[in-house]
Amino acid sequence: MLGSGLGARQLFVANAAGSLRSDTFPGDLMLISDRSPLIGEATDKRFVNLVDAYGPDMRARLIEVARGVGVDLKSGVYAWYSVPNFETPAEIHTLHILGADAVGMSTVPEVILGQFLGLEWVAVSAITNMGAGMGDEVISHEHTKAMAPIGAQNLEQLIRGFLRGRGEG
Ligand code: HPA
Repeated sequence: MLGSGLGARQLFVANAAGSLRSDTFPGDLMLISDRSPLIGEATDKRFVNLVDAYGPDMRARLIEVARGVGVDLKSGVYAWYSVPNFETPAEIHTLHILGADAVGMSTVPEVILGQFLGLEWVAVSAITNMGAGMGDEVISHEHTKAMAPIGAQNLEQLIRGFLRGRGEG
C-alpha cells in the first residue's frame, strides 16, 4: 500500500449527482457501491484494478452507521459521464440501461487515483435532481448548489457517526 503523501489511508468522498432511479429523489443520499466500468476516460494511471474500489469494509461500516443514526441511505452504481455539461435525456436513458443508478461529474477519477495509491474509499452521492428528462426541474449548476444542502444534514450525521466509530468524532 502506497498511501497518500499526507499519510492518509482512507478517504470519505461526497458528491452531488442526478438520480436515474424512480425510488431515489433530490435530498436522498446514495452510497456508491460501484462505478460503471463503461463510462469515463482513461487517465495516465493505467491498468488499475477497480474490483472493490469502493471499499467493502468501509461501505459496510457506513451502512451500519446510517442504521444507527436513522439515515435512509440508498446504495447504487455511480456513472461518470462527460464533463462539464449535464447529460441529454438520451444519455440518461442509455446510462440507465447500462445499470447506473446515479450520474455525476466527479469522484471516478479520484477513486482511480486512490486505488492506484492503495487508499480505501467510501463515497456518497447527495442526490440533487432527477436525471435529465426524468423530471420537470431545470437542471443547472445553480440548481445543484441550491439542492445539495437538503442532504447535507444527513451526510453530516453519517460522517460524524463514521468518525465516532474510529474514535475521532
Ligand atoms: N448530472 C451530472 N452531474 C450532476 C447532476 C446530473 O444530473 N446533478 C448533480 N451533478
